[in-house]
Amino acid sequence: MSASERPSERRGAARTAVVWETLRPILGDGDTSAPALDVLDIGGGTGGFAVRVAGLGHRVTVVDPNPDALASLARRAREEGVQVASTQGDLSDLAQSMPEAGIDLVLCHGVLELADDPAAALGAIARVLRPGGTLSLLVAQRNAAVVARAMAGHFGQAKALLDDDTASGRAGRRFTLAEGRELLGGAGFQVVSVHGIRVFADLVPGSLVDLESGAAAALVDLEHEVAQRPDYLPLATQLHLVATR
Ligand SMILES: C[S@@+](CC[C@H](N)C(=O)[O-])C[C@H]1O[C@@H](n2cnc3c(N)ncnc32)[C@H](O)[C@@H]1O
Repeated sequence: MSASERPSERRGAARTAVVWETLRPILGDGDTSAPALDVLDIGGGTGGFAVRVAGLGHRVTVVDPNPDALASLARRAREEGVQVASTQGDLSDLAQSMPEAGIDLVLCHGVLELADDPAAALGAIARVLRPGGTLSLLVAQRNAAVVARAMAGHFGQAKALLDDDTASGRAGRRFTLAEGRELLGGAGFQVVSVHGIRVFADLVPGSLVDLESGAAAALVDLEHEVAQRPDYLPLATQLHLVATR
């Protein structure tokens, strides 16, 4: 069974397809003669994004506090035959681990939720970006977490989460779109695009996507269709905000 035929890969594709499509033009749109970018993947973990971006010819550095994740990243990069630099560090010491204004694109996917101080973290990211550089920010959306709690019958938890902007549990903090915009504006970013990620992917039973022929591709298609429709944005598990400074 090839990677793309594996159920877990198909479900992963449904979750990340819209993010990749949004990043495509920034990463050169498949044009191998486009200039290589300096890319920082902060909290890049095991390199799901970083290795693929490096495979497009860009110079990628992953900064992550977890040494096990960095070891998996190194293995994955070796297997794919690409170079990815890595440093053990985190959002709070970015100024020490990265030079100022040297990065074209920062990926901050699923990490701002875990920052002690999201405003300070975005300020640190702004400092490592070149003027005109781009931030790809993927954050958990609070609305969707409320819906998920309610659908699981945890009504008290859903109610408590409605206005809770503090970090809790392993998932950390969750953001509304207004909070995301305000944080980015406060750090000097202009938001260029907003996409809803995983509008349906987490609501659909996994077995349906795994077993029904063509379902995974149709789900990806549907996710693309709704990602920028304002009516569907509040349902998305994650928000993908692309911003420049
Ligand atoms: C949910 S995973 C996301 C991994 C990857 N960015 C992705 O989208 O697949 C969160 C990652 O953030 C890292 N992390 C946790 N706290 C962090 C912090 N304060 N600064 C930077 N990275 C952090 C974790 O080690 C983990 O690799």
